[in-house]
Amino acid sequence: MFVPAHHNWKLYESARSAIARQPRPKHLLPGDHPASCTCAIVSVMAEPYIRARNLSKIYRSGGAPLPIFTDLSLDIHRGEMLALVGESGAGKSTLLHLLGGLDSPSNGTIYYGGIEISGLADAEKADFRNREIGFVWQIHYLLPEFTAQENVMMPLLIRGVPRATADSESLARLDEVGLRARASHRAGELSGGEQQRVVLARALVGKPSVLLADEPTGNLDFRTGEMIFELLEGLHHSHQLTSVFVTHNLHFARRCDRVLSLEKGGLVPGPADGPQPETGPGYL
Ligand SMILES: Nc1ncnc2c1ncn2[C@@H]1O[C@H](COP(=O)(O)OP(=O)(O)OP(=O)(O)O)[C@@H](O)[C@H]1O
Ligand SMILES: [Mg+2]
Repeated sequence: MFVPAHHNWKLYESARSAIARQPRPKHLLPGDHPASCTCAIVSVMAEPYIRARNLSKIYRSGGAPLPIFTDLSLDIHRGEMLALVGESGAGKSTLLHLLGGLDSPSNGTIYYGGIEISGLADAEKADFRNREIGFVWQIHYLLPEFTAQENVMMPLLIRGVPRATADSESLARLDEVGLRARASHRAGELSGGEQQRVVLARALVGKPSVLLADEPTGNLDFRTGEMIFELLEGLHHSHQLTSVFVTHNLHFARRCDRVLSLEKGGLVPGPADGPQPETGPGYL
């Protein structure tokens, strides 16, 4: 069982219970103050959930150091669906890995509510990821010899959840992505779109508050990609998630709450941010 280092225990516990107590409203933009809210509630809701501060990432493998960003800051509000676009090699996956605690910044801090994840020890970070963050990648990383349901329940078994609960939760998530009838099929026998639906079910089985998706539609034809994006959009709302969606597809990016573009190591409003004429798929 995961045991946080003693000096982090109180902070960890109080931060976790504070996060649990926080409402998860649909995304509020700065200045969106519902008339019925008290000032105190507004200030809690306006506080960004994910705060990345002065991040730098410099890869040092190989020859010369390769700086990807040197001073990047980012706020993401609870309930927000943020699209992250940018040219290939700009550092989108790198940023998502840092936000997900899968890699550490060379400098800077990342907070989820009151928890600074860049300061957590490896075991604490792994536990935090397992509970708070669902990941979806372009390549699905399912275990092909295991059934769809076994793949979905994996994060719960790792967490030590009893098998009966893991069974029912995984079936419920497969139901949500329209694959309950395929629960006992091996993952390797499913189509690319179906496998991506299994990945979505797996990402959400542990009831995370955050979904990080790196080009989840990148390997799919447009129609299947559209279906996966719609599913993702629906799950974002029904699970009251905070989502970061990396994509090269401006058509999908435009449908998110906000679009940021990673350019020359910095974040700028994306080319598709704000009202835009619908011009069809549009890839960046
Ligand atoms: N582990 C690593 N070690 C060294 N360099 C790396 C590593 N991971 C990524 N890079 C380099 O960092 C840069 C940014 O890579 P990253 O994968 O974040 O880009 P991206 O914006 O996600 O690109 P794409 O749209 O093609 O997925 C690239 O030049 C890449 O070669
Ligand atoms: Mg990438």
